[in-house]
Amino acid sequence: MKTDELFGPDIDRSESDSIKWKRYKEKDILPMWVADMDFQVAPEILEAIKQRVDHGVLGYGSDNPELRQLIVKHCQHHYDWAIEPEWIVFTPGVVKGLNLARAISVNKGRPADITALPVYPHLVRHAPILKMDNHQFYAKANGDSWSLDLQAMEKILNPEVGVMLLCNPHNPIGKVYSHKELEALAKLCKKYDLLICSDDIHCDLILNGKKHIPIASLNDDAAQRSITLMAPSKTFNVPGLDMAFAIIPNIKLRTQYSKLMDGLVGHVNILGMHAAQAAFQYGEPWRLKLIEYLKGNHDLIMHRINTMPGISMREAEATYLAWLDVSKLQLDNPQRYFETFGIGMSSGSEFGDNDYVRLNFGCQRPLLNEALNRIEQAVVARIDALSE
Ligand SMILES: Cc1ncc(COP(=O)(O)O)c(C=O)c1O
Repeated sequence: MKTDELFGPDIDRSESDSIKWKRYKEKDILPMWVADMDFQVAPEILEAIKQRVDHGVLGYGSDNPELRQLIVKHCQHHYDWAIEPEWIVFTPGVVKGLNLARAISVNKGRPADITALPVYPHLVRHAPILKMDNHQFYAKANGDSWSLDLQAMEKILNPEVGVMLLCNPHNPIGKVYSHKELEALAKLCKKYDLLICSDDIHCDLILNGKKHIPIASLNDDAAQRSITLMAPSKTFNVPGLDMAFAIIPNIKLRTQYSKLMDGLVGHVNILGMHAAQAAFQYGEPWRLKLIEYLKGNHDLIMHRINTMPGISMREAEATYLAWLDVSKLQLDNPQRYFETFGIGMSSGSEFGDNDYVRLNFGCQRPLLNEALNRIEQAVVARIDALSE
């Protein structure tokens, strides 16, 4: 496979500890599932990590005021969102932040959450572990795009529901929510006095030039009821470093969150903090090249998939994840079926819809082309079998 000059050498991950590549080690199945990218991390970030390791002592880290300032600047510059440095709570991972928001709701005597399917499984999966009910409604496919079905949401709300878990941009459908949509959602959350926990982990991976709008940036009410979770992990391909942050304008909420975090999930990885600082300080040129490359991958997939029989996709406005509609293939287990043709995608049923599979396109283009060839073989074989 060719080296791509943007991202350094084409690194063989099959011999590393990568969860994505280990699953299919020694099998002729291309790993296009869990959401990390095959690209080498930006040199400035690698250098910052190396420098920290070279210090030789890796004790507990202290606060990082420079990183706070960089995040404040980032929010202002990219989302027109004026935040205060003290609103930021460094958190060891976004999933942990989602669960802390759930725990706050339970502590308030509201042991249920609500979210829109299909969605990243951790917005659903941990509610039962915390003895919470999870209420779900579906995002609606409208022509080429998706929208939140707020009427469906309102129908299933009850006084037990204390927190709305939003995913914006929305994995796996790739939707970037508009001002109007977020305003309507925020209004509903106000009406039912819901905490909003917005998982914005993919917010710097917008492919079609739209602007990310954190729901908390809409107005003071939305800000006061929001926990916004962000991280450099997806954008800069450092998810193994367990570094994220919550932005919580409301001091009472922030204190509750911080106390629970201390008791339940502990500290942020110091290497993650150094990586984040380098990412926000030096990473923008790398990110812009990444977006260009991912957009190329995305457009290639759209074109190829939508000219194949029995499979289709809508535009992914953000993320490096394509949500492929395979309903016409009438398969009981689409993920398994594609595996038998050598493509390891994520099963749509994990996200709440078995008529789909999710393809991770955060990879070098030759690998993607090979995956698309295999997908084509698989769908043609199935259409042939169905028409016999
Ligand atoms: C929407 C979303 N939230 C959270 C995560 C995971 O975040 P973390 O590894 O920081 O817990 C992912 C990873 O794929 C994701 O897609």
